[in-house]
Amino acid sequence: MTDHRSKSSSAKRVAGRALAVVAFVLVLGITAGSAIGATSHTSGAKATIVGNTATGGKLFISEGCSGCHTLKAAHATGKVGPNLNTLKPAYAAIIKQVTNGGGVMPSFKGKLSTAQIQDVAAYVYKSTH
Ligand code: HEC
Repeated sequence: MTDHRSKSSSAKRVAGRALAVVAFVLVLGITAGSAIGATSHTSGAKATIVGNTATGGKLFISEGCSGCHTLKAAHATGKVGPNLNTLKPAYAAIIKQVTNGGGVMPSFKGKLSTAQIQDVAAYVYKSTH
């Protein structure tokens, strides 16, 4: 009898540990999901924002965006291009503009990788919406 009781309690302990692992993995999954592909709910169109905003913030300074654009989040006060806080460009528009350039703004296609362009676009989008 004693033997049976101790067996069932240890089985319970194992089950408890398994549950804890499942819960942990779930939390990790949710956190990772929101970091990789956040969905915009601010407009009717559901644009998936891809890119690392921390890297994007550094690129905004190092690539000279801050010299031409005003963006509060980056403490940028450039006045050559439009003020990004008032323009509030769509994610796709930022990707397009940074990739191809336009007006006096240079194209960053050959300078930045696709991932880096996504990083800076995610940064600009998220700090203006
Ligand atoms: C030499 C100055 C200059 C630099 C550097 C520059 N821009 Fe621009 N940017 C401009 C100008 C000028 C415009 C307006 C262009 C036009 O009218 O086509 C513009 C337009 C934009 C727009 C608006 C696009 C739209 O849909 O209206 C975005 C977004 C933007 N730039 C982001 C960036 C980012 C991000 C960087 C850095 C990777 C950057 N810019 C670097 C001058 C610059």
